[in-house]
Amino acid sequence: MNISNEQIFLQQHIAASLCDTLAGKKALVRTFGCQQNEADGERIMGALVACGYTPTDELTEADIVILNTCAIREHAEQRVLGVIGSMKKEKEKRPSMLIGMCGCMAQEQHRQELLQKSYPFVDFLFGTDMHHRVPEIVQNALNSRKQKQYVTDAPHGEFGVITEGTPVFRDSDYKARVSVMYGCNNFCSYCIVPYVRGHERSRASADVLGEMRSLVDGGYKDIMLLGQNVNSYRGDKTFPELLSACASFDGEYWVRFMTSHPKDASAELVQVMAQHPRVARHFHLPFQSGNDRILHAMNRKYNREQYLEKAMRIKEMLPDAAITSDVIVGFPTETESEFLDTVELVKTVGFDMLYTFIYSPRKGTVAEKMVGRIPHEEQVRRFQYLSDIQDAIAQTKNDAYVGKTLRVLSDGNFVGRSSQNKIVAFDADVPAGTFINVEIKSAKQYKLVGELKK
Ligand code: 5AD
Ligand code: SF4
Repeated sequence: MNISNEQIFLQQHIAASLCDTLAGKKALVRTFGCQQNEADGERIMGALVACGYTPTDELTEADIVILNTCAIREHAEQRVLGVIGSMKKEKEKRPSMLIGMCGCMAQEQHRQELLQKSYPFVDFLFGTDMHHRVPEIVQNALNSRKQKQYVTDAPHGEFGVITEGTPVFRDSDYKARVSVMYGCNNFCSYCIVPYVRGHERSRASADVLGEMRSLVDGGYKDIMLLGQNVNSYRGDKTFPELLSACASFDGEYWVRFMTSHPKDASAELVQVMAQHPRVARHFHLPFQSGNDRILHAMNRKYNREQYLEKAMRIKEMLPDAAITSDVIVGFPTETESEFLDTVELVKTVGFDMLYTFIYSPRKGTVAEKMVGRIPHEEQVRRFQYLSDIQDAIAQTKNDAYVGKTLRVLSDGNFVGRSSQNKIVAFDADVPAGTFINVEIKSAKQYKLVGELKK
């Protein structure tokens, strides 16, 4: 569902009416988790600024704190609960402060119940389809101190919105995120995302391209197209067409995209990357497991061979690109030999970087109900075994850059990122947001070190 213009105007009106009351007050949005959450956090801050708040990074001076949460693994949720718990003291010291919670955890029913029962000092909670209502939510919280929850219980196919025309307060003036699609229809058996983010929906290409244009015109140099399955974009263009258009504005900038699902990692997409020098040389393509039985149990919709074919195509057609991935170890019933299939796949592809996760049961998912959980110590052993192998691969990959010159976008403080998203340290104090050439002199597992080349 697209949020109507009337609704957007109503919220703008509420925001404007709060500006006098909130002038001089400070707002903190603390974001946990993925890039999508970071993008949401920038919109929430945009709404708070429109209400009159000034952004701050300091909890002790914040008049409103919104915790933008992540539910992808148990550990992420425990961290958030720890932070919420610690807010109680802050609120006792300064009772006028407002505390809110949003994001993926806020969308889980058992967390909504927990918040009501155990954390009554939290003023409000809102779900992932309520961001456009922040001004109204703040107004209500200022008027009443009773915890209010703004959530829908719409079924997956109807849950989720597209909002255009709300303000964004960006974290950086040279790196930006542009959401192109939201939600997920895949229901991988371990994953909470479809339940908390709703069904897949794509923005109109004109809206994406309008945002792109204003970012490029505004001097942004590294722009990331975002989506839970970004390459499953189904707007009025295909994703390769959209990417091609995003890479066709004048000026020097990079456009990258995250996260891709292997089922939609087409030859056409790789071709577009090869044709457009502005498309960053980085492909993040999660494989999750190297064993067919586990892939099937995960409901991933591809097998090992199909994944390898796609990864090899990327390596052949984009020899200067980095390839990175996500993998889960210790999925229920995963045997030692099935785990070794994952290890073999890692060795065969040779990823520049691998994000290895220990399987974490998520309430309400299919895998949560599976028998045959792997003991935690065994999961940790597999994690460590795979991490050691990957560390050695990453070193070999980075060694190959020694002697080469890379285009690097400075982040200031003598470091930056290459088009491959490699961290590059160099010997000159170059302002953040400036492109430079760096000759690589040495390589560590996750960092290249070089000298500025004039
Ligand atoms: N347990 C462990 N890892 C998970 N991921 C998603 N859900 C789970 C889970 N329940 C990992 C996947 C995904 C990444 C963002 O997080 O590898 O690609
Ligand atoms: Fe989760 Fe799978 Fe959707 Fe990715 S594709 S968000 S892993 S359900």
